[in-house]
Amino acid sequence: MATVLLTGGAGFIGSHTCLVLLEAGHRVVVVDDFSNGSPEALRRVSELAGLEGWRQLAPDRWVAGDGQPALLTLLKGDVRSPRDLDRAFEDREAMGDGGIDAVLHFAGLKAVGESMGQPLRYWDVNVVGAVRLLEAMGRHGCQTLVFSSSATLYGITDRVPIPETAPLQPINPYGYTKAAVERMLADVAASTAGWRIALLRYFNPVGAHPSGRIGEDPNGVPNNLFPFLCQVAAGRRQRLEVFGGDWPTADGTGVRDYLHVMDLAEGHGRALETLQAAPPQLLTLNLGSGRGHSVLELVRSFEATNGLTLPYAVVERRPGDSAISVADPREAERHMGWRTRRSLADICRDGWAWQSANPEGYRGSDRQPGRSLIQVQPVS
Ligand code: UD1
Repeated sequence: MATVLLTGGAGFIGSHTCLVLLEAGHRVVVVDDFSNGSPEALRRVSELAGLEGWRQLAPDRWVAGDGQPALLTLLKGDVRSPRDLDRAFEDREAMGDGGIDAVLHFAGLKAVGESMGQPLRYWDVNVVGAVRLLEAMGRHGCQTLVFSSSATLYGITDRVPIPETAPLQPINPYGYTKAAVERMLADVAASTAGWRIALLRYFNPVGAHPSGRIGEDPNGVPNNLFPFLCQVAAGRRQRLEVFGGDWPTADGTGVRDYLHVMDLAEGHGRALETLQAAPPQLLTLNLGSGRGHSVLELVRSFEATNGLTLPYAVVERRPGDSAISVADPREAERHMGWRTRRSLADICRDGWAWQSANPEGYRGSDRQPGRSLIQVQPVS
């Protein structure tokens, strides 16, 4: 059993990974500022993992799991704050006398369009946040890190599938910040012996836990195809706009490598185990299925799986998009025995289970009777 710190663990990918880690018997400490995540997500994770006694002990601290230390601890905090990070690394109630064995760093901003309008914010949260985290890891003697990187690093390329050795050519501030952190982590690993680091380049993570209890809950209008499509299905948006019908692909719409978020979450569990079992190393791995699906294939699969009709219209291409992006995922299989197991139909079924049961995402759950999130209990 390891004690693992998840930054951004209340968000979409972090919450699903938190569940996988708890089910594998690890102890988890989460730091999240709730800018794009919710304590309710982790309350539900604790339920799904069968942990008793989710409770709020302070305005910015929650725990679950009987016994001392707790199996799941959630702290409200900012990755740019050394104080918030030290608090997580030193939370004795969360980890007993042992320390944090490994960090999974999910916290960050990820909207491409927003990054072009607010570059400083992206450099601050994504890059300064990573610097502060690495400094805190140094102070607390932790040298195992899994970093959420992105296939966005490959930029616009005709190469199919894309191996990890493809040139890095990001084309927007979001992508530059991911490239900068990858570079920084390579420098850190080269400067000091003992680091175990995995850079995981995600392709297009979608879907939800099959229970429909946790899923993606974007702020405002979704930028990405899958959550947008779910909201069209739920009647929250009138129709889907398909960005371009004249791409050089079989049906003219863009092709992407969609992977189920539970496959991705399991990939993080595998990365953690792989790093812990092997000598210090820096691993760079694509996480994708190796299969491409067009926008219209995704629409048709969603309709067929869920018995729905999705209104859509083909419009202009979106600036900065590429025709095809598909992973070569063989290195992940070779290094950690991981490959995706779930299909496009699984993605569509589970994504809709989440969206239809939670039309407003996690908002509204505190309005359900008996589901108050703000019952602060006295610390004993
Ligand atoms: C986008 C980002 C990428 C980021 C990833 C995860 C861009 C150019 N890329 O990837 O850097 O890592 O999200 O946050 O923004 N589409 C529609 N209609 C829509 C939305 C999307 O037709 O309303 C199409 C797109 O043109 C694309 C496909 O659906 O062909 C997938 O788009 P999206 O879900 O936004 O992901 P990416 O663009 O691949």
